Parts: sequence; structure tokens; C-alpha cells
Amino acid sequence: MSNPVVSYEIIDSIGVITVNNPPVNALSQALRDGIQKAVTAAQSDASEALVLICAGRTFIAGADITEFGKPPMSPSLSDILVSIENSKKLIVAAIHGTALGGGFETSLACHYRCAIASAKVGLPEVKLGILPGAGGTQRVPRIAGVKAALELITTGNPISAAEAADMNLIDEIIEGDLKSGAIQYAKDLVDSGAPLKRIRDITINASSIEPGFFESYRKKLAQRARGQIAPDRIVSCVEAAVKLPMDQGLKLERDLFMECVQSSQSRAMRHVFFAEREAAKIKDLPANMPVRDIKRVAIIGGGTMGGGIAMCFANVGIPVTMLEINDEALERGLGIIRKNYSITVQKGKMTEAEMAERLTFINGTTQYKDLADVDLVIEAVFENPDIKAEVFGKLDAVCKPGAILASNTSYQNIDNIAAATKRPQDVLGMHFFSPANVMKLLEVVRGAKTSDDVLATAMQIGKKIGKVCALSRVCYGFIGNRMLGGYGRQAHMLLLDGASPAQIDAAAEEFGMAMGPIAMSDLAGLDVGYKARQAREAAGEKMDPRAHCIASALVEMGRLGQKSGAGYYKYDPQTRARVPDPEVDALIKAHAEKLGIKRREIGAEEIVARLMYPLINEGALILEEGIAQRPGDIDIVYVYGYAFPSAKGGPMFYADEVGLKNVYDAICKFRDQHGADIWKPAPLLERLAKEGSTFAAWGAAQE
Ligand code: CAA
Repeated sequence: MSNPVVSYEIIDSIGVITVNNPPVNALSQALRDGIQKAVTAAQSDASEALVLICAGRTFIAGADITEFGKPPMSPSLSDILVSIENSKKLIVAAIHGTALGGGFETSLACHYRCAIASAKVGLPEVKLGILPGAGGTQRVPRIAGVKAALELITTGNPISAAEAADMNLIDEIIEGDLKSGAIQYAKDLVDSGAPLKRIRDITINASSIEPGFFESYRKKLAQRARGQIAPDRIVSCVEAAVKLPMDQGLKLERDLFMECVQSSQSRAMRHVFFAEREAAKIKDLPANMPVRDIKRVAIIGGGTMGGGIAMCFANVGIPVTMLEINDEALERGLGIIRKNYSITVQKGKMTEAEMAERLTFINGTTQYKDLADVDLVIEAVFENPDIKAEVFGKLDAVCKPGAILASNTSYQNIDNIAAATKRPQDVLGMHFFSPANVMKLLEVVRGAKTSDDVLATAMQIGKKIGKVCALSRVCYGFIGNRMLGGYGRQAHMLLLDGASPAQIDAAAEEFGMAMGPIAMSDLAGLDVGYKARQAREAAGEKMDPRAHCIASALVEMGRLGQKSGAGYYKYDPQTRARVPDPEVDALIKAHAEKLGIKRREIGAEEIVARLMYPLINEGALILEEGIAQRPGDIDIVYVYGYAFPSAKGGPMFYADEVGLKNVYDAICKFRDQHGADIWKPAPLLERLAKEGSTFAAWGAAQE
């Protein structure tokens, strides 16, 4: 048979179908066609059974996402799965790498599944705003049980081969070479007269599901799904697997898949998928740029941030040395790390032994000379330029030539920090987000003199420690925090104009933000911004009271936010639940009166527009100035660093969906209401709006 991505040979009486469609064996049309033809031809050849295996780094990693939204091309995946399932000859899927989505569903249509121990399987479709559309919602509950299926499909998280074997999803773990092991396994099955096991033939015992189970699962999901439709539709499909015959269940799955795939939510989430991968690429660097070897890392500062960063490296087995100014501070820092790991153990997400192993990768010192051999240093000390310059001067003196010196600063100028050394080419920003061991974003900040291989190394090590990386050039606050300025200012102005803290947070959370801006200020601590404002005022900057007067008054009343039990809200000491406070309402009214602001009812639509459009406008400036490489990079920063809803695709994607003319017109209207010092349309936004264009089109033209 001749197919560019699928080959077939008979080895030792077993027909071996090999898929080879780099990089991830996605189920393209050619691949589907190749499998279909191979299975059909094998029905009448000399083979006794078949093995479906993949070349390259992984088993089939799913549908070809680039084909979504385009006219369907036959054969469909469902057609192939019917051929596989109905094959007269037994078919074994042989899994390595990651069998995901349609790839895992293909294996579930096979009669048996074997895998090497390092393999992972999963149904990540929910992360793309869709549901498994090739029988996954029908077959997994039949073989693994309803609860396990719901957990697997609604989280989208892959599981190890061992976990999958415990759930009956994998029949055999192969030691050694997968291909020969799978052939032997197929032969053993034939020799033992093993039946053609079709998962579709299993009936779920409906009486084993307690009444009301699906409804309560839906409600529980709705809280964490933040308005996404796919999780709800997945529950409907799994419910159908219990209540309906297989073919009716498959039909419902297909219908709901089509609903999801055509939704703006899925469009947005697919955008995030590709933007994430794009963001890791530095435009003016070749993909094969040589990188420096990072075998040992040092962290300067054992606070919450430094400790979290140290954990990121320990988690992937890279030894880390944490430096603090004295033994007491060092012990405190190491204690925070131990406590963080213990919490993970208590939650059952890590074993004691794993925790002990990770801790062996972290050690402490108070001596700079102990950092002489490290390959990468990440400084995470106070946001004080003098202290940072002193730290980098010391690092320059002790670190070996070629060591990379990074700052985790959120705001400081990387070029000034680099100037404190004699090796500015080795200096860059690596800006983590708190808590650093949890948050996925890493802003890699390129100084004027940062060398190309240093940047490429930072991107690569970021990926290794599980971060999503985006490149920023130097400016105050880099991409993320710079954009946040206008968002916070509008939240504050909305209070003065008539919205309550609870209304503002509810509108933002309904939009999909994990936490509204007012609650977020309380969580971060109102004193942080207060101190920053004091410093800026001391430096001669004139601050508009509309942007901070209530926040400042709260700090002066000792209301610092959650940590002092009250900020914009009061907090229930036990549950930490937000409780609206009439005292704050009175404070807001008094300040509005003092500033001559006539308060009025403000609807959720206006709240969302006034919060989101400053992000978009600043994003447009950041693009024009070349601070961010692409609109998609900004989206990645917001989705992974600020919990912007992925189902809205990030601020720049969202702007395109709303229509840039609508965004521009609204900003002009707000400018007329609040003044040109607060709202000033970015020239790029204005131009694209007038041309009827989009950020996406502009970004594509710059590539
Ligand atoms: N379709 C199209 N392209 C894909 C793809 C897919 N399913 N999966 C990965 N790619 C592309 C990436 O865009 C990337 O392209 P570039 O090199 O041009 O940037 C390339 O393959 C390599 O991907 P990664 O950089 O992500 O490689 P990795 O080794 O870090 O990770 C992976 C590999 C775990 C498979 C990861 O790519 C991944 O999670 N892919 C998506 C898996 C997925 O969501 N599958 C479900 C698809 S939906 C479905 O199957 C629906 C259905 O029911 C039929």
C-alpha cells in the first residue's frame, strides 16, 4: 500500500500498521485514509492479528486541530473507528508518548491496548472548548466507570499508563521495545483464543448511579467552568452513555461536539493553544539556536517568590541553591518550601517519598562564593533598584563566565540592572508570577544587550520547568503589569461613578475572570499599591485621585485587604468569604461627593467594557512599540498570568471578536466622559478600527 504517512508490513504473522506523521501524528486526512485502507486490506491477507503503532515521539496526539472549522474530508475519524472495531482480526493499539483526544479514542476502538510505562493517555478536548467527538464519552464510562470517566474528560488532564491500567483503559504494560512487545502480545492473545473485545458491547448498570448524580456533578462543574459550555455538554454525553444505546449516545456526542466546535469559546481556546506554542518562538532567532546547558541553578532571596521559583527547578530534578542574607532568613525560606510541599502531600497530590526526593535538590547558603559554579542565577529580592544593583555586582564578581544572570523583577529596568555587571549580554529578566510554583506564565524580558543564546536558553528552561513563556522587551511593568494599570484605574473609577465593589467583581467574574479586580486588590494587599504611589509621588509624579483615593483611605484606616481581615470587603475569619461593608459604601459616596462626581446605576456591560478596553488599548501600544512580539503573546500573558478566561482567548483576541471599531468607539465615548488624560485611543487601535481590520490580521502581516 502506498500512503505518505501510514505503512503496513507483516512481521511474524502480525500485520503492523505504522503511522508516521510528524511532529505529533495528528489525525490528518491522509493519516485517516491510510489507517482505513490498511485495516480493510488486512482483513483478507495472511496476518493473524494487527498492531497499530506510531513512529516518532508519540502515539497519535489527537485530531489535527488546524482542520477544525474547515469543510470535513472523508474518511471521518468515526468511519475509521467503525472499521477498526468491526475488524474480524484482533487489533492491538501500541502506545508510547501521549495518546490524546482522537488518538486515545482510536486506541479505545481497538480490541486491546498496550503501552510502555512512560506513556500517557488522556482526553484534553475540554481545554480546546470541545468534547471528545469520536466515542470517548461513550467508551470511557463503559470501561472505566462513570465517575472516573467524568473526572478524566472534564479535567482534560492526561494520566500515566499505570493509572490507565488501574482504570482498565490499558490492558498490558510493555517492558522494553514497544514494537516487538506489542507483536508478542498480539500473538499471545491470538494463541490464547482471546475474544475481539469491543467496548461498545458493555452495558453500564444504570442502577449503580445514585439519583441526582449528574445534576449535582453539573452544578459542581459550573463553579469551576466559569461559563464554559463544553464541561456541561460532556456530562450530558456521559449521562447518555448510561441511559442510551451506544449508537444513540454517539449521535448525541456528535451533535454536541458540533455545537462546541462552532462556538466562539472553542475558537478562542484553539487560538490560545496555537498562540502558546507561537509565543515560545523568538522572531529574529533561528529555531535551532544553540543553548547553554543548565545543570545547576541559584535563587537569590528565600521569600515566597524565591521559594516558589526554587520549587519549579527541584520539581524537574535540577539542583537549586537558595541564598539568603543570614541563617535565620534562610531557615525561614527553606521552611516555607517544606510547608508548601507538605500541603501538596496532605492533598494527596504527592507522596512523602516524592517530597523527600524533591527536597534533596534544594540547599541553602548565605555565601555568594557558593554560587561560583551555577549555570543560572535568578534574583528574587526586594523591588529596590539599589539592592538589585548590589546583588548583580556581587554575582558578576563570583559567577563563572557564561553563567546566566536573571532578575525576577516585576517593574525594574533590566538594562539598568545589566549595567551593574560587566556582562550585560548574560543578563535578562525572568519574571515569574505568584505563587511561582503554581502559576504557568514566565515573562522572559530581553534587555538591549541580552545575547541571543541567553534568550533561547531562558525559553527552553522555562518550558522544561513547565512554564508557558512569552517574550517582552523592557518597559515599566513589562507586558502584563503595564497593561494592568488602566484596568485597576477603571475598577476604582467605577466605584466612584456608582458601582459597588460586589457589582464590579460580579461583572468581571461573570465575564470569566477568576477573581474580580476589587477582590484581587484585597488579596494582593492594598498597602502594596499605596507604597508604590508614595514612591512615585515622592519622585514628583502627580497622581489623579480618581484612580486611588478610596484605596489610599482604606490603607490609612488600617484596612489592608484580606491579610488584615478587611479591605474593600470584610472577610469572614473562618471561610474568608467576602462580606460587603456599609462603612466602605459610605466612604466611596463621601469621596465621590468631594470630587464632584454624580453617582449613577452602572450595568454589567459598562463595567466589563471599562475594565477590558484599557487592557486592549495598552496592548495596542505595547504592540506598536515592539514590547510584545505578537498580539497572541499578549493573550498568553493574560490567560496564564492573570487568569483571563481562555474561553475569551485573551484581551487581543477578545477585541477582534468584539470588533475593533466597537472597542475604539467605546473608548472615544469614555474619553469624552472622563477626559483624554484617562482614555487616549492607541494609534494602532484607531488605524485598524478605521481600516475595518483586526489585531490578528495585523499580527499575521508582521510575521
Ligand atoms: N493538531 C495540529 N497540530 C498540533 C496538534 C494537533 N492536535 N498537537 C500539536 N500540534 C503541533 C503544535 O502546534 C506544534 O507545532 P509547531 O511546532 O509548528 O509550533 C507541534 O505540533 C509540536 O507541539 P508541541 O510544541 O506542543 O510539542 P510537545 O512535545 O511539547 O507536546 C503534545 C506534544 C503533548 C502532543 C501537545 O502538542 C498537545 O497537547 N497537543 C494537543 C493534543 C490535543 O489537544 N489533542 C486533542 C485534539 S482534539 C480531538 O482529538 C478531538 C476529537 O475527539 C477527534
